[in-house]
Amino acid sequence: MNKRSVVAGNWKMNLNSLEANDLVQDLLSLKHHSARVILGVPYVYISSLARLTNGTNIEIAAQNCHHKEKGAYTGEISVNMLKSIGTDYVILGHSERREYFGEDEALILEKMQMAHQAGLKVIYCCGEPLSVREAGEQNDYVEQQLRNSLLKLDKEQMQNTIIAYEPIWAIGTGKTASADQAQDMHKHIRQLVNNQFSAEMAEETSILYGGSVKPANANELFAKADVDGGLVGGASLKAELFGPIIEAIIE
Ligand code: 13P
Repeated sequence: MNKRSVVAGNWKMNLNSLEANDLVQDLLSLKHHSARVILGVPYVYISSLARLTNGTNIEIAAQNCHHKEKGAYTGEISVNMLKSIGTDYVILGHSERREYFGEDEALILEKMQMAHQAGLKVIYCCGEPLSVREAGEQNDYVEQQLRNSLLKLDKEQMQNTIIAYEPIWAIGTGKTASADQAQDMHKHIRQLVNNQFSAEMAEETSILYGGSVKPANANELFAKADVDGGLVGGASLKAELFGPIIEAIIE
């Protein structure tokens, strides 16, 4: 484990309130206190889970935020609301938000800037669809995503951003990128951060892999030099699966 190491869960639209509470209690009892853990939870649980995890190694992330500061946007949640209830991070750029809610790089950039302005940290997701991977164009594709959003951040914003590489074809499919495929892309992304910001920034930025991370593949993935941890969907919903993934980052 190095200082970039993080294991993040993304619960997506799962778990009721009781289940959410039980899961966090179970995770707190695992005693992996040296690992940095972030849980991306539904908005409605943030307040209580932020209180429950206060002073522990677990930080709480929202899974979205609105790009405007406030106003007549019925049903939306602002960054200041999130900040005021103890949210640490917000996950932005997830491929499900891009696909089902039409979020593009320009909107993602607006959301990132709004989040940073409120003092929230960001987990920025990128990743290519299967057709791009099959054409061997994944590096250019992800580079373009980053150029249109992440690489436009200023230095301080970048310091408070974690990158998650999530190839779309590996999300929820049981199909994981091989550790070498993940390493190649993470190295590419770190190089882009280096070129845009500095070697120091590249050295300090956490780059997580997401897409069917399980206890069985976490060790191999996290052993790669530029894979600093995982952004875990399905396997973050059960302590008996997420626990071993946290253990894999400590080793
Ligand atoms: P799965 O781990 O279920 O493939 O989901 C990954 C993901 O989308 C995390 O954000």
